[in-house]
Amino acid sequence: LSSCDTKPAPVAETQPAAAGGGAHGLSFPAGFLWGTATASYQVEGAVNVDGRGPSIWDTFSHTPGKIANNDTGDVACDFYHRYKEDTQLIKSLNAKAFRFSIAWSRIFPTGKGAPNQKGLDFYNRLVDELLANGIQPFATLYHWDLPQALQDQYKGWQGRETAQAFGDYAGYMAEKLSDRVKHFFTLNELWTFIQLGYGDGVFAPGLKLPPAELNQARHHAVLAHGLAVQAIRAHGRPDTRVGLAENIKVAVPYIETPEHIKAAEIATREFNAGYTTVILEGKYTDTFLKNAGANAPKFTAEDLKIISSPLDFCGINIYNPEAYVRAADNAEGYEKIPFAKSHPTSTSKWELLAPEVLYWGARHMQNIWKVKELYITENGCSGTDELTPENRVNDTDRVAFLRGYLSQLQRAVTDGAPVKGYFYWSLVDNFEWASGYGIRFGLFYMDYKTLKRYPKASAEYFRTMAQQNAVL
Ligand code: NOJ
Repeated sequence: LSSCDTKPAPVAETQPAAAGGGAHGLSFPAGFLWGTATASYQVEGAVNVDGRGPSIWDTFSHTPGKIANNDTGDVACDFYHRYKEDTQLIKSLNAKAFRFSIAWSRIFPTGKGAPNQKGLDFYNRLVDELLANGIQPFATLYHWDLPQALQDQYKGWQGRETAQAFGDYAGYMAEKLSDRVKHFFTLNELWTFIQLGYGDGVFAPGLKLPPAELNQARHHAVLAHGLAVQAIRAHGRPDTRVGLAENIKVAVPYIETPEHIKAAEIATREFNAGYTTVILEGKYTDTFLKNAGANAPKFTAEDLKIISSPLDFCGINIYNPEAYVRAADNAEGYEKIPFAKSHPTSTSKWELLAPEVLYWGARHMQNIWKVKELYITENGCSGTDELTPENRVNDTDRVAFLRGYLSQLQRAVTDGAPVKGYFYWSLVDNFEWASGYGIRFGLFYMDYKTLKRYPKASAEYFRTMAQQNAVL
């Protein structure tokens, strides 16, 4: 007789009801917010509708050879016209929050100047629909679709004027939506759109800038974040709350002992020096400035004050660790352990699978920067996802992913990390940037020919977790 064969004790009789109300599994605190996320260019389509101006992603995706299969976001999931149907999908997941982004060029077709009422009306309709269905709207103001006019006029983020224009747009959105939208995110994943768009040339606008210029563009992006925070405070209702949504680069201690945890904290602070660290600390670290040398950005003390404007919460997008680290007797105080060649990944090869990254991402935010309120603004798993003849998608990989990652998140909350909610990326399969439609992250499968949506096994899993407020 193996231990597996012994009769389990009747759980309900021997254990007190879990804090979150779930009778089984790893519970989250009552009120924990379950949600999903999307972004404008990845789902909306309708690129020439109601006065929307072109963005750098329209230009980039229409440049042959830039996107797998030369896919574009012209139609995407047609969320612009199907947001009501998709609101019902969100509802069916028992999700009480939805993170979407606003396409800047729908509101200001050239990035600034006269607003386009029809563009604003779309987000008014969306917000009203969500609220009518008991779903809290969380709005991201920039998810990479920069108005093309700002790229042409100011070289996009290379120009300080773009940061200024972003602040103005953010203030306008707060004024128009904050009667109903209580949570705003400024910019999504600054590292990604700066590094991949202006450094490596693989995302829009496809530039490969030398280090000094890249650093200056990055500085303008963090400055834009700060200007937006100030503008939202100035123009939003008093109860408007604002934070960022950054893909923090997480160092995972390879063994959870105090010395390696300390090393992971030192590493995490440096990995994020140009982004989260300067935003939360109001200064570039000594190591960052030393390493940048003559390529360091030009900035003023006033810039740093703006960049570090106090936030109400932090959003973190977390998929994979930046590195496993160990304590070391060197100047840095840590060393990276190279990833094994056989380290498992999801279909997106960059996504090294390591559920504990969610634990450490949350804990580092709490321990390094004393953040009081956190949201996991993205976390998700890409897969091959095939529709069976019975219209099922048996995404066991995504179910295993959710169970593993959410268990680690639950552990973080149990250990005191102030995580208030979790947004799965993504609600539906969508335009995965340079990978086009071939990479799927959704809880709902998208048939791109018919635009029909089908729940995957993971949607059923998520719905049950959200309902029980526990990992099951
Ligand atoms: C991060 C981005 O914010 C989102 O747009 C993207 O689709 C997912 N990660 C998956 O790569």
